Amino acid sequence: MLLRPEQRTKIDSSNDTDFYALPRLVTHVDETFIDRLTQLYRDQLQPNSRILDLMSSWVSHLPDDLNFAHVEGHGLNEEELSKNRRLDHYFVQNLNDNPKIPLPDTDFDAVLIAVSVQYLQYPDAVFSEIHRILKPGGKAIVSFSNRMFYQKAIAAWRDNSEPGRIELVKRYFHSTQGFSSPEVIVQKPVKPLIMQMLGLGGSDPFYAVMATRTDPLTPV
Ligand SMILES: C[S@@+](CC[C@H](N)C(=O)[O-])C[C@H]1O[C@@H](n2cnc3c(N)ncnc32)[C@H](O)[C@@H]1O
Repeated sequence: MLLRPEQRTKIDSSNDTDFYALPRLVTHVDETFIDRLTQLYRDQLQPNSRILDLMSSWVSHLPDDLNFAHVEGHGLNEEELSKNRRLDHYFVQNLNDNPKIPLPDTDFDAVLIAVSVQYLQYPDAVFSEIHRILKPGGKAIVSFSNRMFYQKAIAAWRDNSEPGRIELVKRYFHSTQGFSSPEVIVQKPVKPLIMQMLGLGGSDPFYAVMATRTDPLTPV
């Protein structure tokens, strides 16, 4: 089993839809993190490809200078998604109530999850869906930092170290058949010793775990 039942629990067990009912038109990580993520997308994503931005909001962090054939968005707050100028279309769905993604098989070149994977209670089901909708050769890119809505993150995330969270996301990929061995990118802020001692400064640490759908289509 990928996660034990208690590892899937949240401190705030109220429905996530209620928690995200009011729009939050803020950025959840700092500028250095966002610039690093946009650069990763520039390096990894192909122009004119089809992108799914899962667990999105009013910003997608995609490079302005890259045009895509289609960007599908998903999240929990309609108003946030309606303000996201990169999305061609979006849908609202609580993945902890229903992890089945309402999109066809092998339809996307890339699926992105930015600073949100810690809120998934059934990552096994969601990663299997991500695999299903990716084209063979398509990529999933999961990025995260050390910030979170603590009461809404699952216990397996909350109670883990930062390296442990990388291992957890790697396990999400490993547990889904048909993904390549995940690649990890870590960029931690370099802080002068005096600032470290005073607990000051430095930007949000950047982590990304990426894998490619390797298996070919199964003939029907
Ligand atoms: C910290 S925000 C990150 C939003 C966006 N990816 C970004 O980079 O700014 C977390 C997002 O996770 C999504 N989310 C949280 N719980 C969810 C759930 N149960 N089902 C679907 N999406 C959820 C919401 O869309 C929310 O906007």
